[in-house]
Amino acid sequence: MSLPQSFLDELRARIGLAGLIGRRVRLQRKGREHMGLCPFHNEKTPSFTVNEDKGFYHCFGCGAHGDALSFVMQSEGLSFPDAVERLAAEAGLEVPKPSPEAAAAAARQASLLEVVEAAAAAFEAALSAPAGGDARAYLEDRGLRADTIAAFRLGYAPESRGFLAERLGQQGIGPEQMIEAGLAKRDEKSGLLREYFFGRVIFPITDRRGRVVGFGGRRMGEGGPKYLNSPDGQLFHKGQLLYNLARAGEALRKGETRLLLVEGYMDVIALAQAGIAAAVAPLGTAVTEAQLEAAWRLVDEPSLCLDGDEAGRRAAGRLVERALPILKPGKSLGCVFLPEGEDPDSLLRKQGRHGLETAFERELPLAELVWQRALGAERPRTPERWAALKSLLLDEAGRIADASVQESYRAFLLDRYYDARRQGRTGPARRSASPPRQPSLGRKPDPDQQRQRQERELIALLLNHPAQAAAREEELALLDLQSSQLDRLKSATIDCLADRPELDSEALQRQLSSLGYAALVDQVLSSAVYALCAAARPEAPEDQAGRMLETLLASFAKGRAVHAVEEAQARLAAEPNEQNLACLTAAKRELDAADRRIEAVAAA
Ligand code: UTP
Ligand code: MN
Repeated sequence: MSLPQSFLDELRARIGLAGLIGRRVRLQRKGREHMGLCPFHNEKTPSFTVNEDKGFYHCFGCGAHGDALSFVMQSEGLSFPDAVERLAAEAGLEVPKPSPEAAAAAARQASLLEVVEAAAAAFEAALSAPAGGDARAYLEDRGLRADTIAAFRLGYAPESRGFLAERLGQQGIGPEQMIEAGLAKRDEKSGLLREYFFGRVIFPITDRRGRVVGFGGRRMGEGGPKYLNSPDGQLFHKGQLLYNLARAGEALRKGETRLLLVEGYMDVIALAQAGIAAAVAPLGTAVTEAQLEAAWRLVDEPSLCLDGDEAGRRAAGRLVERALPILKPGKSLGCVFLPEGEDPDSLLRKQGRHGLETAFERELPLAELVWQRALGAERPRTPERWAALKSLLLDEAGRIADASVQESYRAFLLDRYYDARRQGRTGPARRSASPPRQPSLGRKPDPDQQRQRQERELIALLLNHPAQAAAREEELALLDLQSSQLDRLKSATIDCLADRPELDSEALQRQLSSLGYAALVDQVLSSAVYALCAAARPEAPEDQAGRMLETLLASFAKGRAVHAVEEAQARLAAEPNEQNLACLTAAKRELDAADRRIEAVAAA
């Protein structure tokens, strides 16, 4: 539906956003904005804001963002045209009717559709005719059943030139119409009509509504390009269509849950024959933005099937590049890597559905793929490479246009980054330097109360006294909090300060809120925490805060050292060798150092 921008602007202007949203959400005025509990996710403290002047809403918690139209679409599950109708009725506006030119173009298109449909029927009939014997044998050889061939309306374009002109001519369709419909072209030298397809198996390509708009043709033997497509024209736009989109949509409505994005026509057809109807393919080009948008209209996270070989991994790379900029809240991709050298068609023939199901189990979310690609095969070994990895990750996140998705990616990727760095620190390469434990295993499921309390105090200190935090950035970055929530908040804090060490507490907290930590920040900055730790209060003097930070860090260091000594003792008992003895000695030295550190703060 194309509507004049002026109409949409008028519509938005007439609908008061706060009034519209206020019917569903209790809003409170705060300065120039309204705030309330976000209707798109569950929350206890408000992070949903409505800016009446600018005409948009934004949730700092879940990233929901949009204007009056998107609010109606999201909250009532309406399509864009329906949302327009609904708001126009409310605003007392009439939705403009299409112009006469637009109406004429629609009529012309309808007649072209009939031409293409007639061609599809002619190709279908040719496949069943005696001359279609080779084509039938070819399809049979590729394992296709008669019902599959009929369902996809596969056909055959005979070798003989002029086949289509003759058939369509009998129905009163002339050369000019064939040209307009993308079935033939005029030879520049001879002026003769040349059909695009001959001597090929024909795959009709339909639009979103299942109407044939063009064709793909595959050669059966050697010679010439493997596949040919209709040229782009009035009906056919290869960057916008997806093969099998209409049937896939129907399958999803009937209960299939996964939408597969595969590379070829034959993959789609083989999947359907194996009972998986929700699969689509681009038409010989890399997946375009428009195609991703079309898939997103059906499911939130289409599953991209990629060959597990080098080419497949490169294709994944290109897709990441294309998908990242256009991600939206809730819209992403999954990546399914097939065994090396296989496409869904060949995999199904070799292993049946089981082979595919196995690959589905290892599906990676796009964000995970971004992380793994950035990390590469080997963990960085030097601080410089860690720094390079971090800036690569931030670059990747920076390519996402949608602000809230960008922030979520930053948080996710940095989370992975710090996890990996901690693992690197405690991994086998530097056994003696620090306590040898995996963070995920070492994190006690039920951290003792004192530790929990200390962790909250630490965060409160960092939030209220960023200068102290900035001075301790290195140690804080490597610190491993038991509460994974607080650990993420701590990493985010360090990151903000690493970028801008001069941030004051208010700016820091604002930035963390915009990264989605508003609720957690509120929870930590509570009177309960201040009651136990006066130095964490915002008004506490900086030197007191600094001493408290040092006390907490020393206490955490001691906890780590105690743990390391216990582990080293156990290992030495189990396997008394020189290496384990050296480990124990090193751990004891660490414990000693931690004790001295605690004494030093106490004395200060
Ligand atoms: P593939 O080369 O992977 O072929 O092309 P395929 O799908 O496995 O086909 P079969 O199994 O050999 O029949 C994937 C897609 O790329 C486009 C087609 O859309 C094809 O389905 N393609 C391929 C072309 O447009 N032209 C070509 O010459 C080759
Ligand atoms: Mn194939």
